[in-house]
Amino acid sequence: MTERTPAPVSRRALLTGGALTVGGALAGAAAVAAVRRDAAGPAPVSSTVDYGLQVVPFHGEHQAGIETPAQAHAAFVALTLGAGVDREALGRLMRLLTDDAARLTQGTAALADGQPELAAVPARLTVTFGFGPGLFDAAGLAAKRPESLQQLPPFGIDKLQPQWCGGDLLLQICADDPVTVAHAQRMLVKDARAFAAVRWVQRGFRRGRGMQDDGVTQRNILGQVDGTANPQPGTDVFAGAVWTDDGPQWLHGGTTLVLRRIRAELETWDAADTVGKEFAVGRRLSDGAPLTGRTEHDPLDLQAKNANGFPVISEFSHAARAHVLSDRQRIFRRPYNYDEAPAADGTADAGLIFAAYQRDIARQFLPIQRNLAEADLLNDWITPIGSAVFAVPPGCAAGGWIGQGLLG
Ligand code: HEM
Repeated sequence: MTERTPAPVSRRALLTGGALTVGGALAGAAAVAAVRRDAAGPAPVSSTVDYGLQVVPFHGEHQAGIETPAQAHAAFVALTLGAGVDREALGRLMRLLTDDAARLTQGTAALADGQPELAAVPARLTVTFGFGPGLFDAAGLAAKRPESLQQLPPFGIDKLQPQWCGGDLLLQICADDPVTVAHAQRMLVKDARAFAAVRWVQRGFRRGRGMQDDGVTQRNILGQVDGTANPQPGTDVFAGAVWTDDGPQWLHGGTTLVLRRIRAELETWDAADTVGKEFAVGRRLSDGAPLTGRTEHDPLDLQAKNANGFPVISEFSHAARAHVLSDRQRIFRRPYNYDEAPAADGTADAGLIFAAYQRDIARQFLPIQRNLAEADLLNDWITPIGSAVFAVPPGCAAGGWIGQGLLG
């Protein structure tokens, strides 16, 4: 395998899909050695393919895996803390998991890694940690829990299944390769098991890396262009909507995550016609443009009327109901599709692992979710079956650990 020359990579490149390659940007000789070890195996990595070797920096002001362009595969792992796991034990756990994540994300094996060879393809691996409401009680830190970090109130559209709800500690593991995700999950869960039990795991996917140009808004499993109206990573609008700078000091530079498992009723969605599907969302299926616009990123015109005097974009459409007027009220959506084994009669078990990040759940997520629960034409085809909330601490510098500001 050829050596890669170190090349400076701008923050913008990182946020728009470019990333460092292990050989090129890592000074860490161990990582390069790990890559070489892999190349010595039976199936050398082609020197023309570098997606597998790309790394996303682990250390920084914010945790990676939020502003990072969404990787192709994800595992969301929720853990329930064992009885007696107190603040001191949590600190030990987070030091251990931070060390694992810092190594694995840079293409280096974790300590006592059972399959160190698998670490050699980091494929933009990120590990993002979230703290559920129960963690604060276990750590005796109830006073430091952000006020709106509590399970969401019930909504009329919900059909929640306990097996997809709650969780004290979240590991959000994303990479462009499913083997990389599986390996990181295995290492992290193994190291956590003296402290916590696995509560649920949700695996999701998006288009494979390289299937489309980076930056193209992807279609979800219902075939809709999904993500158009998101705040753009790397902008002030994004920072203002996502990164916390008020509330508890330890969360500054962090954010909150609402994770909803939302089943899609694909049988009836398949049966609906294009006009009905577009009316329900307020956007065209062909290119994601608003029904009032020409191209995907044209703004919604909620005032435009058709020849009969009715709004072109229905006030009950998903886009209209979810639209907010202030940038500070926006949420950042980073969803993954799921598709489990269908029922015996072929009925799909598919939908979205809907991940939304925002500074404050009560001020941003809840008003939108209330609007949607009250009236959203899309509700005929989507059903929330899981729900969990997490505070996502800020990132850490080399030598530090995630959650240190709360638990240290
Ligand atoms: C399976 C469930 C869902 C599907 C299939 C879905 C699909 C879509 C689609 C196709 C769009 C238009 C394109 C875009 O801007 O991304 C959209 C927009 C949006 N959705 Fe959803 N969505 C779902 C659930 C939710 C939930 C639970 C929320 C929040 C509680 C939400 C909030 C939003 C927001 C804020 C927008 C942008 C609205 C705007 O300002 O134009 N969505 N969604």
